[in-house]
Amino acid sequence: MTKRRICCIVSGIIFTLFITFMTILILTQTVFKPKHPILQTLSSTVEDVSTHVSPPTMIQINFTLTLQMLISNPNLADFEYKTVENMVYYREKLVGNLTLPSSTLPAKGQVILPCPLVLQIDKFSANIGDIIQDIVQGKIVMETKARMPGRITLLGLFKVNLDTISHCTLVLAFPSMVVEKQVCSLGTKL
Ligand SMILES: *[C@@H]1O[C@H](CO)[C@@H](O)[C@H](O)[C@H]1NC(C)=O
Ligand SMILES: *[C@@H]1O[C@H](CO)[C@@H](O)[C@H](O)[C@H]1NC(C)=O
Repeated sequence: MTKRRICCIVSGIIFTLFITFMTILILTQTVFKPKHPILQTLSSTVEDVSTHVSPPTMIQINFTLTLQMLISNPNLADFEYKTVENMVYYREKLVGNLTLPSSTLPAKGQVILPCPLVLQIDKFSANIGDIIQDIVQGKIVMETKARMPGRITLLGLFKVNLDTISHCTLVLAFPSMVVEKQVCSLGTKL
């Protein structure tokens, strides 16, 4: 082989590698560009309410708050989530949590997951005066925070971590414990 021939082959290989690299790069920035999965609270309902209210010493409100969570995967790749973590706060104190097991959501897939949270509001979850004030005003405000860390594998090669969070404020009427208002916001971080 002449030097010239070797030179041609080497340039050919470099050129092919460069084109392949550029194609993969363009694909991962366009059609396969990672998009955040969506974690949305569709509805929230309260069941199994059991109350024992005799102020000023004894207040207990037990109930199950069921959140219907919709997860959608906008990517052209499967999304493997590690968990779906749901936390409920009353007056900034954690009053319940639920962690759903890991699973895979197919490309462009959607699923609705019910999350039943067993909650108890009592003198350990807030200042008793604050609870009484809420009961008298007939409104109990709860915050929910959900988080879904996971990842997708682009073109079977690159792993991209995606973390989706969602946050809702729920207003429950007292004593009916009906969800009167639900305001949610979505958030993401890479
Ligand atoms: C609320 O739940 C706790 C723990 O499960 C239980 O001990 C308590 O009796 C319940 N209170 C009412 C009013 O049902
Ligand atoms: C969730 O609740 C369990 C008990 O059911 C508790 O052990 C755990 O620490 C809680 N997780 C968080 C993040 O607070």
